[in-house]
Amino acid sequence: MKIEGSKFIVTGGLGGIGGAVAKDFLRRGAKVALFDVLPAEKGTSLVAEYHSTDVIYINVDISDSTSTKSGVEAVVEKFGNLKGVMHCAGIAVKRPWSNAVADSISDFRKMMNVNATGTFIVNAHVTDAINKALNHPAHPSHNRPSSKFWTTDEERGVIVNFSSAAAHGLYARTLCYGPSKLAVAGITRSIAYESHTEKTSVTRSRIRISKALKNSNTNKQNPH
Ligand SMILES: NC(=O)c1ccc[n+]([C@@H]2O[C@H](COP(=O)([O-])OP(=O)(O)OC[C@H]3O[C@@H](n4cnc5c(N)ncnc54)[C@H](O)[C@@H]3O)[C@@H](O)[C@H]2O)c1
Repeated sequence: MKIEGSKFIVTGGLGGIGGAVAKDFLRRGAKVALFDVLPAEKGTSLVAEYHSTDVIYINVDISDSTSTKSGVEAVVEKFGNLKGVMHCAGIAVKRPWSNAVADSISDFRKMMNVNATGTFIVNAHVTDAINKALNHPAHPSHNRPSSKFWTTDEERGVIVNFSSAAAHGLYARTLCYGPSKLAVAGITRSIAYESHTEKTSVTRSRIRISKALKNSNTNKQNPH
């Protein structure tokens, strides 16, 4: 993936990992749009710190489809076609210990909403924005409506989602966070499959999803 000159969204861009990723992208010559729910003043003061015209802050709630879609459109308008997203936004709600599992239901809802639904929303809008710019008619050998499917071997973009070790080995106090991060892994696998599948001879897009899946896409029988 070429980073220099490419345009990326970093969700959770005002957080620890998102901030570090954004700085690294800028150092390598990329343009970066930070998405976060924190107030605009925090975003703009961080942007000022970077001393760069290559970074912008947009207040976006990634669990909201409309907010995310308009954020993505604003980035394309400002910077041009997107290369991808580092999706770092996420929450881990902490609460005092309780013996009643039902006390965690509202936390479960919150974390599923941001971590799981938010991941799907970000992946969907970024994938569509990349494909919209690079769309071309389907290959004539595929009996499909040309507006719906693409056939291409080019790498169109990259999406990296942040799951967590808590998704795979549940440990203390991950009752709700763990499942929400397991959902992130599942969404990543599904969207990567949707974007890469060769089984139907139709490749809708050529967007590499998640670094961890990089090498496995060469295996056509088991793309993930
Ligand atoms: N830090 C770790 O040790 C660790 C370990 C495993 C996984 N992760 C995951 O990596 C990602 C980044 O972690 P971090 O340590 O940088 O967290 P962080 O809390 O420092 O940053 C997360 C950022 O996401 C933003 N955010 C929260 N909800 C949002 C929403 N609805 N829309 C837009 N932005 C929103 C927050 O405001 C914050 O700036 C998270 O998904 C986290 O679950 C972190």
